[in-house]
Amino acid sequence: MCGIVGYTGTEKAEGVIADSLTLLEYRGYDSAGLALAGSKSRSIDIYKCAGRVSDLRSLLDRNMKLEDREATCGVGHTRWATHGGVTDTNAHPHRVGTVTLVHNGIIENFRELTEEFRLKGKLKSETDTEVVAGVLDSFYAESEDPKKAIVQTLKVIKGTFALVIMFANYPDVIFAVRNVSPIVATQSEQGSMLASDLTALTRFTDRYFVIPEYTIAELHRSALYLWTMDGKPVDPEWCTMDWEKNSSDKGGYPFYMEKEINEQPDSIRKTIESRLKNGLPDFSVDEIDDSIFEDTDNITVAACGTAMHTGLVFQNLARKMLKTEVKVCLASEYMYESPVVGDKTLLIAVSQSGETIDTLQAVKYAKERGARTLGIINVRGSSIARECEGVLFTNAGPEIAVASTKAYTTQLSLLYLVIAKIAMVKGLWDDKKVREFTESLVKTPESVSNVLEEKNDIHIIARNILEARDLFMIGRGLDYAALQEGSLKLKEVSYIHSEAYASGELKHGPIALITQETPVVALATQESLLKKELSNVREVRSRGASVVLFVKEAMSEGLEQEFNIVRLPDLPDEFMVFPAACALQLLAYYVSSDKGFDVDKPRNLAKVVTVE
Ligand code: F6R
Repeated sequence: MCGIVGYTGTEKAEGVIADSLTLLEYRGYDSAGLALAGSKSRSIDIYKCAGRVSDLRSLLDRNMKLEDREATCGVGHTRWATHGGVTDTNAHPHRVGTVTLVHNGIIENFRELTEEFRLKGKLKSETDTEVVAGVLDSFYAESEDPKKAIVQTLKVIKGTFALVIMFANYPDVIFAVRNVSPIVATQSEQGSMLASDLTALTRFTDRYFVIPEYTIAELHRSALYLWTMDGKPVDPEWCTMDWEKNSSDKGGYPFYMEKEINEQPDSIRKTIESRLKNGLPDFSVDEIDDSIFEDTDNITVAACGTAMHTGLVFQNLARKMLKTEVKVCLASEYMYESPVVGDKTLLIAVSQSGETIDTLQAVKYAKERGARTLGIINVRGSSIARECEGVLFTNAGPEIAVASTKAYTTQLSLLYLVIAKIAMVKGLWDDKKVREFTESLVKTPESVSNVLEEKNDIHIIARNILEARDLFMIGRGLDYAALQEGSLKLKEVSYIHSEAYASGELKHGPIALITQETPVVALATQESLLKKELSNVREVRSRGASVVLFVKEAMSEGLEQEFNIVRLPDLPDEFMVFPAACALQLLAYYVSSDKGFDVDKPRNLAKVVTVE
């Protein structure tokens, strides 16, 4: 959480940093700030405020010193508050003495350090970050050697951190160091740059590297160095971004969420295509050996939020199609459930960002106990990707809206390929059956496109639930799994309290909440469950609820006389989750945008969750 950026080069730092912060705003958006090294005065000036990057830009327009407009070095931060409220003073950067810095992460022993280094009188904010600046400044005062002071500071601070630091005597140089919290960096003709996320680096180049943990990065205008803690040089491990350079703009849509929903047919296609050979799943581009699937006798999916919901679909399919039991764990609970893990365990970690700390911890926990680990991840070079034994990367491109959409469907598409792969390597299906399965999977992008073509119908439906305070989403089997995601989507962007319920479970309690004021969204895509589902829908309707029924086209005959329906394009039942997901994403999107909310940045949330 929190977006950080540092730049030293030939361009005007204010523009580079403010634009980068806008791109990183999904990591936190309660305060923003930057520090600029004025090229003439050689001083480092800080501008910061509670609010969005747009508020910071207004502040800069009003107050920025003339010489700072020419500055070519600086650091920036967009905050998701952990320690200390959302105030101008608590916004980053923080400065103590000669040290100015921004921070992403949590310093656990900041209270002890405040005492030990007698910082009380020097601190202005309530943040743990300012304490690090104080500690660093104390060590720097002894040696006036930035790297030595950083090494000494790292020996005393405990927690997770990505620190980007400027020293008053080195106004053109940026230092950075990290533990767990990510930093990626690059060097180009325009200078050296680093950020917490790749999205901010696409401006100048498609080459980047991840700063290794406990390694000091030293960025100069035309060179960039990495140093171990004992002062030895390290060569960066350069990677090439597989995202197109301008893939981080809104492409004419009012919100990233709408753009990303619309990108799904393409991103699903890209994710599947390179992994099919003659209709059979082939992970050789990912260098994943079949043994990871062959040698396991128990599979767990560990993930959070939307990513975890892909596990629920996978679990349902694995039971039904492979007769195999799969465990799905909230990554934040995984290790506390004392899971039985051994060398026959396959832990599948699903994550868009590849940085979610709970998922990362689950991978480490399972690995330490001998499990094999497979990541399904969008961001290359991310922490979870580096921790997992094998990784299948989703080809979704950057996902910027906080509410995940294309990540979900691309993760699903990979999990479907994993189903086919397991069926193959364990000899559960013959090639013909595998091909039938992948043929249906290949049709899913088109079915999502068909839903997108009918999006106005969903917009009209959305208008009926704008005023709702509470809402239920009901379905059975695979539909219930899909609705967990649909319901999360609606609640996070529209602030309507929504609950996904297994239709048959309603009458065991929650039906007491159904009134005329409680709309119900029902999903019916599973032929064998249709009759039962319709009975449950009638039960809620007879208690006054207005119902919208999303139903597979082939099963919809006559239903329009009874219900308000949205038809979903036909696919075999097992694949209906793709068009259903898209329809429910659109529903959530339209409710939020019609209510006038900032769809891409729901309150209290951040895209990359690097705190436990
Ligand atoms: C909801 C959403 C979150 C994430 C969760 C995990 O729309 O995006 O629930 O799915 O925070 O994030 P990743 O996938 O980055 O591990």
